[in-house]
Amino acid sequence: MPQKPVIFVTRRLPEAVEARASRDYDVVWNETDAVLQPRELVASASRARGILTCPTERWDREVVLALPERVEIIATFSVGFDHIDVQAAAQRGIVVTNTPDVLTEATADLAMLCLLGASRRVHEAQAMLRAGNWQRWNPVELLGPGLQGKTLGIVGMGRIGRALATRARAFGLHIHYHNRSRLAPGLEAGATYHEALETMLPVAEFLSLNCPATADNLDLLDETRLGLLPKGAVVVNTARGALVDDDALIAALKSGHIAAAGLDVFKNEPAFDKRYLDLPNAFLLPHIGSSTIETRDAMGLRCLDNLDAHFAGRSPPDAVNR
Ligand code: DGY
Repeated sequence: MPQKPVIFVTRRLPEAVEARASRDYDVVWNETDAVLQPRELVASASRARGILTCPTERWDREVVLALPERVEIIATFSVGFDHIDVQAAAQRGIVVTNTPDVLTEATADLAMLCLLGASRRVHEAQAMLRAGNWQRWNPVELLGPGLQGKTLGIVGMGRIGRALATRARAFGLHIHYHNRSRLAPGLEAGATYHEALETMLPVAEFLSLNCPATADNLDLLDETRLGLLPKGAVVVNTARGALVDDDALIAALKSGHIAAAGLDVFKNEPAFDKRYLDLPNAFLLPHIGSSTIETRDAMGLRCLDNLDAHFAGRSPPDAVNR
């Protein structure tokens, strides 16, 4: 029997994924499930030809370059790959793969949840009820902006942005979007394209960030751009925390220029900016966009499909650096 390839799996994964990995690979597990630091990552990969990682681990240039020669592939359990230096990997001849498609619907659902949760002041309502402060039904309490007939601006009209647009249309929102390039009419589905983000912001009563984080769009939503949004706008981020200037958003939430924010992602997770906790108009979630049972299974299986293809001598379907 040919020897199974050795892979290093950096975190505990759904049962079905671990079972298939154990069946097909000689797996080095991270039994503690702790988030490993660079030196531990490199040491744990010492026997591995493949690595199955998560967005919790940082594979910066130095870490990638320090990996043993035998490492051929890094498969990340995520669609985002901003935690991996893909150029350094390419330089080392290491292929990097991600998990597109399978988390689109779950993440778009969660973006809609954030939009509704923020605009309908769900955090405040929950807090009031749980603290025993609900005294009576009140015609003028916990009011937030309705969705019907308003405009949602989507930054990044990839798969998740488009899936959000489909949901948002059903809630009566008009869709505007900003993207690197204009979509074909079938994909655009009547949405209004803005080549410049700055022309979309003034009409976006709701704004959702759905683009990947790159070196070029750090703090994309800064003080100036927040200032272009209409007063009382609602901001949603289910993409990456790096896209938002926290100082600027917190100031805008405090002043009321931004009525509410629904945030599932943060800079420096899990050590996010704790000032958000003091803001009643911040609806906050701990990066659970893809956390349905079905989606997490599918993400793990997709990682294994990529590893399988690579070790069978084929090009992995979701290679991002080749
Ligand atoms: C991703 O896949 O990039 C998400 O942020 C985690 O599901």
